[in-house]
Amino acid sequence: MQSTKSKIESFPPPTQLATKTDLTPQEVKAITEAVNPLVADAFALYVKTKNFHWHLYGSHFRDYHELFDEQAESILESIDTMAERIRRVGGTTIRSISHIGQLQTIKDDNSSMVPAGDMVRILMEDNSHMAKMIRDAIEVCDENRDSATSNQLQDILDKTERRKWFLYEVMQGAKNAE
Ligand SMILES: [Fe+2]
Repeated sequence: MQSTKSKIESFPPPTQLATKTDLTPQEVKAITEAVNPLVADAFALYVKTKNFHWHLYGSHFRDYHELFDEQAESILESIDTMAERIRRVGGTTIRSISHIGQLQTIKDDNSSMVPAGDMVRILMEDNSHMAKMIRDAIEVCDENRDSATSNQLQDILDKTERRKWFLYEVMQGAKNAE
């Protein structure tokens, strides 16, 4: 984690990046500050899901390996959509891995071994957390007259809940097999 001194400033953007909009600077700031952490979290969750896809072992290998890959793909797709919504309203977005580190609320997992059942539970909890964050950001966008970002986030929320649902049901299967 970097010191606050080197914190990357996202607002106000330089004039050349301040896309014209009828939204007020305060509205743009609120939207930017609500959506940028989601972009950072999507990056963090993408890497974590791929990490589990790569380091899986034991029973159900093929099923979990493929499920994690499919989920990583769906997370990756959401990143560009969210980042470009911020640019469309004149905010600036993620610039680097260290910027992601400053904003992410999804914890990295650097453990050398994670049992498959734990991977499923951890990803289920992370996707639940992500769903809550997205729901909160939708409220901020609605309060700040940005229905286009809200609409995009609703679709991303739906996909996040789909991932959560699959992981939750896989967890039930793991319990039944105990
Ligand atoms: Fe792969």
